[in-house]
Amino acid sequence: MKNINPTTTTSWETLKEHYKNLKDFDLKQSFVKNPNRVDNFTIINDDFYVDMSKNLLTTSTKDVLTQLARECDLEKAIESYYSDQPINVTEYREVLHTALRTPLDKANDKIKSYVKDALASKEKMFAYVNEILDGSRTTHDGQPFDTVVNIGIGGSDLGPMMVYTALEAYHNQVKVHFVSNVDGDHVEETLKKINPETTLFIIVSKSFTTQETLTNATTLRDWFSKEVSTDAVGKHFIAVSSNVERAIEFGVEKENIFPMFDWVGGRFSLWSTVGMSIALGIGTANFQALLDGAHEMDVHFRDAKLDDNIPVQLALLTIWYNNFFKAESEVIIPYTQYLQQLPAYLQQAIMESNGKSIDRDGKPIDYQTGNLIWGAPGTNSQHAFFQLIHQGTKLIPAHFIAFAKAKYNHPDHHQKLMANFFAQTEALMNGMSMDQVKEDLEKSKLTEKEQKLLAPFKVFEGNKPTTTILIDELTPKSLGKLIAMYEHKIFTEGVIWNIYSYDQWGVQLGKVLADRINDDLKSKKFNGHDASTTALLKRFDSKLG
Ligand code: F6P
Repeated sequence: MKNINPTTTTSWETLKEHYKNLKDFDLKQSFVKNPNRVDNFTIINDDFYVDMSKNLLTTSTKDVLTQLARECDLEKAIESYYSDQPINVTEYREVLHTALRTPLDKANDKIKSYVKDALASKEKMFAYVNEILDGSRTTHDGQPFDTVVNIGIGGSDLGPMMVYTALEAYHNQVKVHFVSNVDGDHVEETLKKINPETTLFIIVSKSFTTQETLTNATTLRDWFSKEVSTDAVGKHFIAVSSNVERAIEFGVEKENIFPMFDWVGGRFSLWSTVGMSIALGIGTANFQALLDGAHEMDVHFRDAKLDDNIPVQLALLTIWYNNFFKAESEVIIPYTQYLQQLPAYLQQAIMESNGKSIDRDGKPIDYQTGNLIWGAPGTNSQHAFFQLIHQGTKLIPAHFIAFAKAKYNHPDHHQKLMANFFAQTEALMNGMSMDQVKEDLEKSKLTEKEQKLLAPFKVFEGNKPTTTILIDELTPKSLGKLIAMYEHKIFTEGVIWNIYSYDQWGVQLGKVLADRINDDLKSKKFNGHDASTTALLKRFDSKLG
């Protein structure tokens, strides 16, 4: 991949000028001026309808942004992404989560061997899952497993947890719990809910060194040994890891260790054996459908022209707002309770990937990179933080995601849910002018003085950008496609921002210091820190009792 500082491109200069001319852009009027606006900014890919027309841009903006992608050599970068090139340069690794969902007959020669390895590990996982689900693999005393505890954190937790939650309608007889936080109360609340005799524990850790995961796994293993027996640990504890040695040391039997590959980053790993808890919770056929959906998006991202490419155009919008409008954040609002964990999952996927301030040449960056990601399901979020989006002082581009068909037959509910979904993007764009407010108030029983006083507070500025992602139905396949869409958006942003999206050195320092403080707490040596931390440690220690 070429290292190109985006701010040195001709398109960047053009965009800077263009932005100045667009400062007074009137979104509502733009639909009047351009009757083809919806077509110009909507991309349809089978069951995905992505409408970007309610954004602060013209067709010229789109052209220059797409030109920026070309100038940053995105097309070549996409080729490298689907090859064996070690584009995760700072960790000397390939980035091949797409190989996990590529059918062997569709794999190019460069990735064939990776796809073969992925298939072998998937087959091992599917065989294991099917044995658990059909009852042929049983607990230490011959009972069927009915519960799974996934022990992991970050990418070894968020992806599986989000997908398992999202596909609740597909759950089978095996119930999955997730333990991630090193907070002992998290473990305690989980063990209250489970029967150790019929529970399978999956320790998911690529490195098998993560403090939280090993602490939780040890606590659960010790509890299990006490409640059931130490001899049964081998039958009830399995591992997903690339560190086989450490997993064996922990007490997992060699044949129960499912490999993870170096060429798959934690936050992109739910498609691999990391998704074991998903496969156990929804079955292997549904897990395969999840992979198929992701592959569909992989093909679209690889083959579609940049102008008609969903992840590319979404990424360019992010860059447009982040770097030219100086928007700090992006909000994700799924209109389905099933996707309640999507914002948390995307926080790691996006912020751990693109929260970087050193470019691919190792130099400090003097432009903005990754933005803040937040969100919650609609309609609940309308009653929580929408006030700030509608009338606050910040520009917050929003993704509205919904599904045309609901899972269950409550037409009245679904119609109301969708009415809210459509109404919000309309309201954010149209706003409400002072004239409209006055007209409304005149119809009220308020006195003229009261009307005058109230009027400014009821004005909605409008002109707030939203992208609408309308998908036919939430299924394992469409969910896979949606997640892959965001993965490729992350990649595109990283290429254009000239950063390495696949490392996460920024999380190391906190880990090292936590270990040091843990030792200090044990030995009660509080003085080797800054005054604030020393005082806090002493205060904490004094309260332990
Ligand atoms: O938070 C840093 C991180 O390395 C993530 O990237 C990763 O998903 C998580 O920790 C867990 O790591 P592991 O799977 O090695 O336990």
